[in-house]
Amino acid sequence: MGAPITLTELSTQLDSLEAEAARSIETAATAAELEELRIALLGKKGRLSGVLGAMGKLSAEERPQVGQRANVLKEQVQSLLGARLAAVQAAALAEQIAAETIDVTAPCSYTPPGHRHPLISTIEEIVDIFAGLGYRVAEGPEIETDHHNFTALNIPPHHPARDMQDTFYLGDGRLLRTHTSPVQIRYLENQAPPVRIVAPGRVYRRDAVDATHSPVFHQVEVLALDEGLDFSHLRGTVMAFLKAFFGDLPVRFRASYFPFTEPSAEVDVQWRGRWLEVMGCGMVDPAVLEGLGLDPERWSGFAAGLGVERFCMVRHGIDDIRRLFSSDLRFLEQF
Ligand code: DAH
Repeated sequence: MGAPITLTELSTQLDSLEAEAARSIETAATAAELEELRIALLGKKGRLSGVLGAMGKLSAEERPQVGQRANVLKEQVQSLLGARLAAVQAAALAEQIAAETIDVTAPCSYTPPGHRHPLISTIEEIVDIFAGLGYRVAEGPEIETDHHNFTALNIPPHHPARDMQDTFYLGDGRLLRTHTSPVQIRYLENQAPPVRIVAPGRVYRRDAVDATHSPVFHQVEVLALDEGLDFSHLRGTVMAFLKAFFGDLPVRFRASYFPFTEPSAEVDVQWRGRWLEVMGCGMVDPAVLEGLGLDPERWSGFAAGLGVERFCMVRHGIDDIRRLFSSDLRFLEQF
């Protein structure tokens, strides 16, 4: 402390303080760094205080010069700090905004929604209509016993009706069911009448594929069994259903034969100027009821088997059944 200090020396110190302050303020990157600099430069124990402390060693004439210079420098540093702080804060804000910005014009990743297959929506619609008439949904296995698929439906071995429903045999008395009618048997084995059921499902036949045949297709089976049901109930139910599904298409009942119904009929709707068969139906044959241990004098009923593909094709104007079993998205996306 002993050595006297000159005005020139103090001026030089202030010069270098000014230069250093300007440089370090300019390179400070955060508000916290700037605050540290403010304390280091202008604080009670800061650089400027150090210089002012040494002022006491100057003469009375020299002191005011240094004092004035120090005051100017202090204001300069304060304004540099203020300006830099504003710049640092503006940059931080801009960075935050850039990071949080959502570019509403950017292309999005698009996952196309799936579609219900037209066969599934057709089944749902058929089932819905019958549910509205008080029918419950029943199901049965696709691998069936010969008994449930044929014999219990009054189609004994070697009956010619078996030829019309040639199927895939598993070799152990089991086969792929040729129709949903075995669900009638399974349901009545477990459930005492009165019953009203619909049984949708997949069925199999050994058919060559063409525009109207597929070895795999779908049916919805209908069964109502109660006291006092007759053919008028069958006809009324079928007509009410067809009207609900198709609206006002012309309908005709044609006498037919099925081993498990008597009398039997096939139902056609007029479509594109032709009669198109959409279901088989009839009054449950007493022999089927007897096989189940039910008294045909007390219980009577009707049954029907609806060809789902036909309903679907008429509804959507599809000309070839094979389209329903292809996975061509250009076709499927229309539904
Ligand atoms: N199971 C018959 C078939 O696949 C369709 C059928 C006809 C079902 C008459 C019935 C019925 O329930 O009563 O060809």
